Amino acid sequence: MASIGTDIHFAAQWLQKAGLVAIPTETVYGLAANALDEKAVVKIFEAKKRPFFDPLIVHIARNEDMDKYGVDIPEAAYRLAETFWPGPLTLIVPRSQLIPDLVTSGQPTVGLRRPAHPLTQELLQLLPFPLAAPSANPFGYVSPTTAQHVAAQLGDVIPYILDGGPCEVGVESTIVGFDGGQAVIYRVGGLSIEEIEKITGPVQVQLNQSSNPVAPGQLKSHYAPGKPVYIGNIEELLSQHPDRKAGIISFSRRYEHPCICQQWILSPQGRLDEAARHLFAALREADSSGAELILAENFPDEGLGRAINDRLRRASA
Ligand code: TXA
Ligand code: MG
Repeated sequence: MASIGTDIHFAAQWLQKAGLVAIPTETVYGLAANALDEKAVVKIFEAKKRPFFDPLIVHIARNEDMDKYGVDIPEAAYRLAETFWPGPLTLIVPRSQLIPDLVTSGQPTVGLRRPAHPLTQELLQLLPFPLAAPSANPFGYVSPTTAQHVAAQLGDVIPYILDGGPCEVGVESTIVGFDGGQAVIYRVGGLSIEEIEKITGPVQVQLNQSSNPVAPGQLKSHYAPGKPVYIGNIEELLSQHPDRKAGIISFSRRYEHPCICQQWILSPQGRLDEAARHLFAALREADSSGAELILAENFPDEGLGRAINDRLRRASA
């Protein structure tokens, strides 16, 4: 079973020996390995049972590392990095020779991110290489936002979990690529489109599901608990599923109904950042509760509400 602690030197030792370590970030926990070593990176795919066509994000210590691991970087990417790093933003840029094929699934581009969590920043500073890290969950399941979430699912396949407490943002990074120098959003996430557009002007959004996505975070079914999830007006959903024990995920409202067995109110004050922070823990708890199905509200389609709706839709697909 993995040990859980806050010892970055111990974590660094494992990583230097081509081992896996779960790391905290401000978005979700990642399952990290030396991004420059294919022998280390292959262990990530094995531990997560992740298909090899799904490329990994490379986490870097400093903005200048962009020029080491990326080439021909569009001007808009530099401006976004300068404004939002460290933070919940992944930039897809042409990759340099240093990045192995396995990390990018053979694609000519690499996803780069400088995460904002202080423990992981210190760890990255200690290491002579960047860290490839997908979210630390089995492929297709809900991402972990605490060390305990990681331990529950991957504890028997990794030696160490660096415990940075509950994640501040709670949904994965926003993924931005470039088409002719123009920013394109591939995954909505912890940095809102509104914030990005302040820097780049209007952006294209390409979240469409397909069987061969640019980013498998675009897969229609992803981030999914084991129980059926339905999204919409809670009262209507309750009447469509009579006599079933329902777990409710709502923004700020409490519902009364004999079929409701448990409720997760993500932000009693009605704040989207707080709701995003609590979303994945609520999905996990609902999944292991006595509820037979999970009913979730539609969130306001703005700011972090878009990332919440996106994850709920994929959880329900
Ligand atoms: O917040 C996050 O992004 C977290 C933390 C740990 O940093 N990581 C994360 O990784 O969510 P993962 O692997 O669960 O999701 C990363 C997504 C995948 O859907 C992958 O396909 C996409 O990023 N991606 C990575 N490299 C890419 C590339 N070169 N081109 C297109 N998509 C890429
Ligand atoms: Mg993931």
